[in-house]
Amino acid sequence: MSVKHGIKTLGIVGASGQMGNGIAYVAATRAKVPRILLLDQSQAQLDKGLKFFDSLLAKDVSKNKLSQSDADEARASLHPVADGLASLGSGQELTPDMVIEAATENLSIKQKIFSQLATQLPLETILATNTSSISVSKIAASAVSQNAAPGSKEVWDGPKRALGLHFFNPVPVMKLVELIPGLQTSQDVVDRATAFAAACGKTITRSADTPGFVSNRLLVPFINEAIIALETGVATKEDIDTTLKLGMNHPMGPLQLSDFIGNDTVYYIAETLHRETGDSKYRPSVLLGRMVDAGWLGKKSGKGFYEYPPK
Ligand code: 3HC
Repeated sequence: MSVKHGIKTLGIVGASGQMGNGIAYVAATRAKVPRILLLDQSQAQLDKGLKFFDSLLAKDVSKNKLSQSDADEARASLHPVADGLASLGSGQELTPDMVIEAATENLSIKQKIFSQLATQLPLETILATNTSSISVSKIAASAVSQNAAPGSKEVWDGPKRALGLHFFNPVPVMKLVELIPGLQTSQDVVDRATAFAAACGKTITRSADTPGFVSNRLLVPFINEAIIALETGVATKEDIDTTLKLGMNHPMGPLQLSDFIGNDTVYYIAETLHRETGDSKYRPSVLLGRMVDAGWLGKKSGKGFYEYPPK
């Protein structure tokens, strides 16, 4: 018997970022979640995200991938909440069945968010993280209400509702979700999250909670090696990217992909892999570190390995 996800209200933390926005898009247009709370810290950020969401809807309608009435319904499901998490849990309309956190890839930020979510939301709310490399068990361990008495059932049960749901950028296009149960995650939460990701039109693969999971354990060393090839003068950036694009049919070369993901994110993942495994094969290249130091983060900052003039 297939499990139903039962998600009627979904919260997305970091809803204006490229991942959060994309997750909102597939949740609204494919899974048809009736109510989506877009949680972010400022109205300006939310407005920017909504503008992009509208442009995707318009594009899909113009290409007959979506009917106008489905697009209107998807748009009507969005509810921007500009006070971040402050009002979450105050009343039924602000109490989601599931929250997906797509904030910056930083452990202490994610722990703070999970602790706040656990404090304000009931134990039944599924808490998913879109982390790309951090230990899901560690993030889940912070899904405990700040009001829980030490050793209470709440302390034991809180982390059971947390898991990793790793989407790929651009979310509306990439067909995969990597599902990562933490050590604590309950089977019911895994089943419902699987059903939700499938309703979003995704194929689901499952990974153990190890650094980088399957995807970034393989992808990030590949990108890092391309940066080392550039750094050591093996070839120009154009020749490295063209070799992989035309020789291996990759849609983007590795340096272009690093700019696309964000060089800071690639660096952070490489550092996590290196630190947690102790294996030198994961050590981030010096050039990648210097690019992050310089603020050359890729597409989002206008400059990385390539330049991205404002449109
Ligand atoms: N959001 C939504 N849709 C987008 C988009 C975005 N940000 N960017 C592009 N698209 C859509 C376009 O609208 C277009 O849709 P259409 O088919 O309906 O017209 C479609 O993607 C193709 O776009 P384009 O024709 O403009 O460009 P390309 O054919 O060059 O494709 C690409 C662009 C899909 C980004 C392609 O280059 C690609 O697949 N690149 C590799 C992406 C990849 O590897 N992503 C995974 C990164 S790793 C990750 O996310 C994990 C993390 O943990 C690091």
